[in-house]
Amino acid sequence: MTLGTGAGSGRADQEQARKTAQGLSHLSGFGNQHSSEAVPGALPVGRNSPQRAPLGLYAEQLSGTAFTEPRAHNRRSWLYRIRPSAAHPRFRRTGNGSLRSAPFTEAEPDPNRMRWNPLPDPPQGTDFVDGLWTLGGNGDAAQRSGMAVHLYAAGASMTDRVFCDSDGELLILPERGGLLLHTEFGLLRAEPGHMALIPRGVRFRVVLLEEQARGYICENYGQPFTLPELGPIGANGLANPRDFMAPVAAYEEDGADRPVEVVNKFCGNLWTARYDHSPLDVVAWHGNHVPYVYDLRRFNVMGTISYDHPDPSIFTVLTSPSDTPGLAAVDFVVFAPRWLVGEDTFRPPYFHRNVMSEYMGLIEGAYDAKAEGFVPGGGSLHNMMSAHGPDRDTFERASSAELEPQKIDDGLAFMFETRWPVIATAQALEASHLQSGYDDVWQGLQRQFRP
Ligand SMILES: [Fe+2]
Repeated sequence: MTLGTGAGSGRADQEQARKTAQGLSHLSGFGNQHSSEAVPGALPVGRNSPQRAPLGLYAEQLSGTAFTEPRAHNRRSWLYRIRPSAAHPRFRRTGNGSLRSAPFTEAEPDPNRMRWNPLPDPPQGTDFVDGLWTLGGNGDAAQRSGMAVHLYAAGASMTDRVFCDSDGELLILPERGGLLLHTEFGLLRAEPGHMALIPRGVRFRVVLLEEQARGYICENYGQPFTLPELGPIGANGLANPRDFMAPVAAYEEDGADRPVEVVNKFCGNLWTARYDHSPLDVVAWHGNHVPYVYDLRRFNVMGTISYDHPDPSIFTVLTSPSDTPGLAAVDFVVFAPRWLVGEDTFRPPYFHRNVMSEYMGLIEGAYDAKAEGFVPGGGSLHNMMSAHGPDRDTFERASSAELEPQKIDDGLAFMFETRWPVIATAQALEASHLQSGYDDVWQGLQRQFRP
């Protein structure tokens, strides 16, 4: 299939985008060696780089890991494109807007618990790139370690503009408004309740399927996200590999090449170049360094059927490992609809101090440890060793609740849990949507000790 580049922000364009999004085909399976061609015969057979690639295409490898990494980690794809990626002019620095990157040095690391309301609506015409707003993060993008928490709020599609993150992969969680992601590998649809992952270096364009789009992003500078090991759980469960959907090949061609701005995030800064053609011109590809989407409602939730509840690592969708076994650089964890049946158990998440740092967000509904104040589009940050847990109302309710089987089905919360503290940006600490008085939710927890 070919893509029209006519992705304006008009109503007709949006209607067309919605139709396109509904009819998409996918390739299923996490980490598979997929292959796809938009034109029959475009994909070479039996070799990657024939003397002349089929149909006059250029062959190009995109390496997501070093050549020599073990097979279990190795990620690369071969792209067969109308023009090689090398055919571009010089990149020039452009403004970073509200985007910030590791290392985060604007403000002192702050041990306080923090909570934010949703981002204010963006100025008219703001697209996905302009609408990126960084909350904080850790590590060092140039060292390929750590992560950043971004939010986005957009009211316009990217038109003749393409984004590329050289610093890391982007795990995108729409909270309001669906997205149609035009990537080099084809099209993906990401609605609220889905996650989309754009690997490091993959060019893409974001088309809005509704008037407004808002959501969360984990930018992962380190090792690519992968599925967690299952250990004694066995061969199935949590996020099942076959539910991850990669695109089929689709290239942009609307009859004539026209200028396209490519925005490249490199070592924390934005650089821009004006191409004379769209870089979304891949006619065929194969490999495992590919974008994908996953419907979080397909997560196979596990929990206790006796007492207590397991640590929330049981809700891990994807993990970015570190060099230390079992110690993730960052975990992506989802609190999906589930039954609570534990006997003689305090059922909401327990009081907690954690060596890992936790950023939580809410896609929809409510979260069972916070009766109020934690709203869809907002977020909370509980940094390394900061004490957190159920608020006063939740504690009182859960301590005296009748322990019947209970369905938690009115919310979809998630967590980015990272081994390093999340250092907030200056704009996050000064934001008008930073809540004051967050500590108060724990103030009414009275002394109950009766020796
Ligand atoms: Fe926690």
